[in-house]
Amino acid sequence: MILVTGATGNAGGAVVQSLAAQGLAGRAVIRSETALPDGIEPVYGDLNQPDSFVDALAGVTGIFLLSGYDRVEELLGNAVRAGVRKVVLLSSSSLDSADISNAVAAYHHAAEEAVQASGLEWTFLRPNSFMSNTLRWLDQVRAGDVIRVQFPEVPVSTIHPRDIADVAVRAFQDGHDGEVLRLTGPVALTPLEQVAILGAGIGRALTAYPMSRSETHDALHASMPPQYASAIEGFFGDGTIDETSVNGTVAQVTGRAPRTLEDWVRENAGLFA
Ligand SMILES: NC(=O)c1ccc[n+]([C@@H]2O[C@H](COP(=O)([O-])OP(=O)(O)OC[C@H]3O[C@@H](n4cnc5c(N)ncnc54)[C@H](OP(=O)(O)O)[C@@H]3O)[C@@H](O)[C@H]2O)c1
Repeated sequence: MILVTGATGNAGGAVVQSLAAQGLAGRAVIRSETALPDGIEPVYGDLNQPDSFVDALAGVTGIFLLSGYDRVEELLGNAVRAGVRKVVLLSSSSLDSADISNAVAAYHHAAEEAVQASGLEWTFLRPNSFMSNTLRWLDQVRAGDVIRVQFPEVPVSTIHPRDIADVAVRAFQDGHDGEVLRLTGPVALTPLEQVAILGAGIGRALTAYPMSRSETHDALHASMPPQYASAIEGFFGDGTIDETSVNGTVAQVTGRAPRTLEDWVRENAGLFA
């Protein structure tokens, strides 16, 4: 039995789908009622309050865990006492660099440290930016044909959340204990190329407007706390992260080629209607 956190989100939701597709039993930690596939049980809990789902750990062998929540040591202690064997942690490509002064890298680093200290077996997944981040353009697509894009010159080999999920499920089945798996998508694409693929996939003549660095700075700071805005500017504006390189880890672990952005757009085109 695998306990999945973030089960209504892009990554956790994909893990639930991957478990169900393989007929594996799962338990999804959720905060409000949601439809789940056959074989996946809901449990209600708040990740910041590990005591809220301690009973849900009975019979669990593995936890798919998101980073960045409070009292993770308490959650991990509960897991040890419940007899859980392994954690597959959703970490981040930002930990390739040693700079944990970056706020995003810092919370992923803290989660990795806590899991390593817990005594549980672990696999760390360090994926690139998700293809599902394309949804950040949803409001613009609905409003017109011009899509303002940040860091227009930076190619990123974005990854399909389902590929992250398939790797996670393999890590519960096949070992990979103590491994850090750096996960990329199949090809690096600039935001301009990503907008073109989105337009083609939804049958719209979308045009990308390349935002300047100062426009990007203002937009980031208007939409999130300053430490996270600065973190993202550091990654893509100052180049402190490499999400352009492509590696073969998804194919090596899952035995199949990583899904493409065209695949993701085809599956999610209805959301942009
Ligand atoms: N997006 C990227 O490019 C990227 C790249 C690398 C790593 N990551 C990491 O991946 C994580 C997940 O990304 P995502 O796109 O799957 O996020 P998402 O779609 O926003 O999903 C977040 C999930 O966490 C749940 N959640 C949030 N706060 C919670 C709480 N207090 N208690 C219980 N559940 C809670 C949400 O549940 P509700 O539905 O109840 O809100 C939702 O299921 C990110 O947070 C980040 O750390 C992301």
